[in-house]
Amino acid sequence: MPEPSSIVLGIETSCDETAAAVVRGDGVVLAERLLSQLDDHRPYGGVVPEIAARAHLDHLDRLIAETMAEANLGYEALDAIAVTGGPGLIGGVMVGVMTAKAIASVHGLPFLAVNHLEGHALSVRLTDDVAFPYLLLLISGGHCQLLIVDGIGRFQRLGTTLDDAAGEAFDKVAKMTGLGYPGGPAVEQAAAAGDPARFTLPRPMKGRKGCDFSFAGLKTAVRHALDRLPEALTEQDAADMARAFQDSVADVVADRTGNAIDLFREARPNGRDLVVAGGVAANQVLRARLTDLAADSGLHFTAPPLKYCTDNAAMIAWAGLERLDTGVTDPLDFKPRPRWPLDSAAAGR
Ligand code: KG4
Ligand code: ZN
Repeated sequence: MPEPSSIVLGIETSCDETAAAVVRGDGVVLAERLLSQLDDHRPYGGVVPEIAARAHLDHLDRLIAETMAEANLGYEALDAIAVTGGPGLIGGVMVGVMTAKAIASVHGLPFLAVNHLEGHALSVRLTDDVAFPYLLLLISGGHCQLLIVDGIGRFQRLGTTLDDAAGEAFDKVAKMTGLGYPGGPAVEQAAAAGDPARFTLPRPMKGRKGCDFSFAGLKTAVRHALDRLPEALTEQDAADMARAFQDSVADVVADRTGNAIDLFREARPNGRDLVVAGGVAANQVLRARLTDLAADSGLHFTAPPLKYCTDNAAMIAWAGLERLDTGVTDPLDFKPRPRWPLDSAAAGR
């Protein structure tokens, strides 16, 4: 655990959220600011990298100043600056990294380039008392992986998506059914009023060995089912399709996570926890399934609060605190990384 009195400023700009947070080693978030670019990207039905980078550039300095003012701290009170160094949309990552380096060099502070995925992976330890090793389902707009988290910078990947990420599939299905952007929350809301028996969709990878995922075929199946509708899409059609899609994702995720739990229990008999992170972890249906699954396997299920499931800067500051505690910092010539796998042994797969 980090030194309780250490204080780190965290910066996140890898996708469509511009965020800054000041976090203390005892887990207290002293201040945080988050600006979502949803309205900027909504007309395009997805994140446009150039628009994202420009928006980060326009707002980041102000957000950092506001966060520091709210924390009532000067830069001399900080122990380090942590920033997402990748993976992500490179223009945005560059804005964050440049800004963090400038602050670090002007104020003579240690600089930490945090892997965004490690931020998600460790976010649970900011809010909950979860010890290593734990099994992590990282399920977001850009990723869908099952990992054993053994410690800071120590991960073993058990499985990953072979094509789309789960959140990406939610976003695409929302677009196809006219449910809008961002897709995840819209699909979840619509699904609540949907008939689960109306459409039958496949369960890609279910029943297969291993822990990999695939969502591209599911998305295509949704497209074909929609194409076969005799009339123009109604609100009820969209709700029924959202329900069928969400049920399929929940089934597949439960199946794959079930396999991962078996592997985890065998490989780490002392492990006690199943943890979920990433934006899709906000989904209540998925959470309920994972809670049951963990209980059936004798594991304790933990999900960070919703605001720390989606992209945020507190998790970056926290990962920075954890890394600082191991004595690791990064050089100021660190280069932003558009790709940066957590488990380098599994990187090529
Ligand atoms: O972690 P995140 O904020 O960004 C990435 O690093 O990808 O995740 C965003 C993703 C989006 O695809 C969004 O549609 C999805 O998380 N999401 C959800 C829900 N809320 C957000 N998916 C399903 N159900 C939700 N309630
Ligand atoms: Zn993320």
